[in-house]
Amino acid sequence: MLGVFDSGLGGLSSVKELARCLPKEDVVYFGDTGRVPYGTRSKETIIKYALQDARFLMQFDPKAILVACGTVSSVAMEALQNTLSVPVIGVVDAAVGAALSASKNQKIAVLGTPATIRSGSYRERLLGQGVQVLSIPCPLFVPLVENGHIREDDPIVKETVAHYLHQALSFGADTIILGCTHYPLLKRAIGTFVGEDVKLINAAAEAAHCLADRLEKDGLLAADGGEQRFFVSDSPEGFADTARIFLKKDIKEAVERIDIEAY
Ligand code: DGL
Repeated sequence: MLGVFDSGLGGLSSVKELARCLPKEDVVYFGDTGRVPYGTRSKETIIKYALQDARFLMQFDPKAILVACGTVSSVAMEALQNTLSVPVIGVVDAAVGAALSASKNQKIAVLGTPATIRSGSYRERLLGQGVQVLSIPCPLFVPLVENGHIREDDPIVKETVAHYLHQALSFGADTIILGCTHYPLLKRAIGTFVGEDVKLINAAAEAAHCLADRLEKDGLLAADGGEQRFFVSDSPEGFADTARIFLKKDIKEAVERIDIEAY
């Protein structure tokens, strides 16, 4: 079984890709919907929340933990890796590798939460490879997604995408990292605004590929299974509703509420 967590709905973009590339793996997902967003909080709080999320998942005896959250991957990886006894895979390295391979003009824009951008996690890795980087914090994207505004023709979505993304176009980026796992839920809207010549790197999906490679290398791939269970720290209904639009399946029966403060 694989443990996957995020502050809310965003990590479902990793779950979606895991179901595609590792369909036989059981997945237990935790979305901390009672405490979302993480991306506007301090490093200390993000680390505390991340450790609680991971402790909850460790009860299921996972063979690996996928940190399907750009914010936690940017500020709490060391704390998680020092605490957990299983491999912990984050989204930052996977996305940076994919962006470097995709970019032709060496101009890469990074979209992330304020905490991710402040941490410099993507930026430092990219600058180390000699590319030009534009970092854009997008604090309004997470509340949009959590409130179910994900359709590309939604006027609020269109307006907000234009507000953040026009800078990436004037910078001349040919590659944009969706460095927060909530952002792939807005991928169509973002893609429509920037045009098809700009490559969008889905950090959540890249991390799923990285985990698949790791399991294969370690000989840990499951032979059968594929069950998905979802846990949240607030009402399951809103979560299941948006998940249905994004995953294109009804997961209502598979979502349970837990008290994350108990971990
Ligand atoms: N989806 C998360 C990320 O990738 C967190 C968003 C948030 O809670 O602010 O950064």
